[in-house]
Amino acid sequence: MPSTRSSPVLRRADARPLDLVVFGGAGDLSARKLLPSLYMIHRDGNLPDGTRIIGVGRHPWDREAFTRFADESAQPFVDARYLDAARWQDFLQRLDYVRLDASQPSDYPALSAALREEALRVYYMAMPPGLFAATCDNLAGHGLIASDTRLVLEKPLGVDLASAIAISEVVTRYFSEARTYRIDHYLGKETVQNLMALRFGNSIFEPLWRTPFVSSVQITVAETVGVGSRGGFYDEAGAMRDMVQNHLLQLVSILAMEPPASLDSDSVRDEKLKVLRSLRPMSPEDVRRNTVRGRYTAGAIAGELVRGYLQEDGIPADSRTETFVAMRAELGTWRWNKVPFYLRTGKRMQERVTEVVVQFAEVPHSIFDAGSTLQPNRMVIRLQPAESVRLTLMVKQPGEGMKLKPLSLALDLDSAFTTRRAEAYERCCST
Ligand code: BG6
Repeated sequence: MPSTRSSPVLRRADARPLDLVVFGGAGDLSARKLLPSLYMIHRDGNLPDGTRIIGVGRHPWDREAFTRFADESAQPFVDARYLDAARWQDFLQRLDYVRLDASQPSDYPALSAALREEALRVYYMAMPPGLFAATCDNLAGHGLIASDTRLVLEKPLGVDLASAIAISEVVTRYFSEARTYRIDHYLGKETVQNLMALRFGNSIFEPLWRTPFVSSVQITVAETVGVGSRGGFYDEAGAMRDMVQNHLLQLVSILAMEPPASLDSDSVRDEKLKVLRSLRPMSPEDVRRNTVRGRYTAGAIAGELVRGYLQEDGIPADSRTETFVAMRAELGTWRWNKVPFYLRTGKRMQERVTEVVVQFAEVPHSIFDAGSTLQPNRMVIRLQPAESVRLTLMVKQPGEGMKLKPLSLALDLDSAFTTRRAEAYERCCST
């Protein structure tokens, strides 16, 4: 599972079995990502023997009901090519369930009874951030945090700076930094890791990767999905907390950071942090001028009618939460002074695409025929759905005169590598 630390959460060499406790185990993330990814890790033989996955939630379920949930709601998200009936049944044997309201101390003895002394405990919090602190307190109050217990936190880690600090204060009371894993699944994507390879495995871009040779950087994460069954969670978050402060800023950090001394997670983290610290704060006037918020309304996607945000389940009629954000951000550094970083993301967009466009500077003076419109070079790095890198160059059109047109050098990574790409949530460790 991708995190900001490099020591793996799961590791086959760990002789000790895990008790992996998933708070929010009956939720959407568990069905779509966690259980399918855990199945793949199990299938590849990378879960320590005897490991159990204990779903925790408020549904009055038992082991059978949770297993049914895995069968009906998670299995459809496993890539059919890798679904093996016998191995899936083996995987189901690892599941258990504890009914628990995380905020209720009196519910914790049931969890305590389900845990084994000899197992290494991992608490995975896939639930609203408002519950993180109380859950940690309750786990500690019932003696359920050992000196090697690990904690995995799903974003958003709070709703603002004050709540993020409050969560951090409680978490660090019980878990050392080395045992705390803050998940941003974008970091586990092959394609996002490839940005590091492109930038630091090639020398030709580095001299140009700065002002005045780069005129803008544009990052787009467009999704066709709506909020689905996650209305309750999403309305508290919105696109800004759900996508921008984590996934998009991670992309900004990787694209803008100075070369780290090594791939070691602390070195990479340090360089990313400098980028985040250099983000120019926005005044209310800057917010008005440089940002746009929007919300999807009812319409048709690929011919299918879809509801507007306000009509989705669990969304209050007077909600002001945004499902689209666009902004112009700037970094106050020598390298990036005055280079705009345009960030945008939205749900229910026309097409699903995650793409980075690095736009280079215009030529200072054109010597070509008036009919040639010189377009600045662009590097277009598409992260999903199909990974590719295109570099547009101006070339001469055949014939009389010197008329130029843009053409692309194109690298299609999906056909260059046919090996299976692990899902982001499957990755056991990452920078
Ligand atoms: C999650 C957000 O972190 O990322 C979702 O909570 C979003 O709202 C998802 O749909 C996008 O991830 P991916 O891997 O599909 O690009």
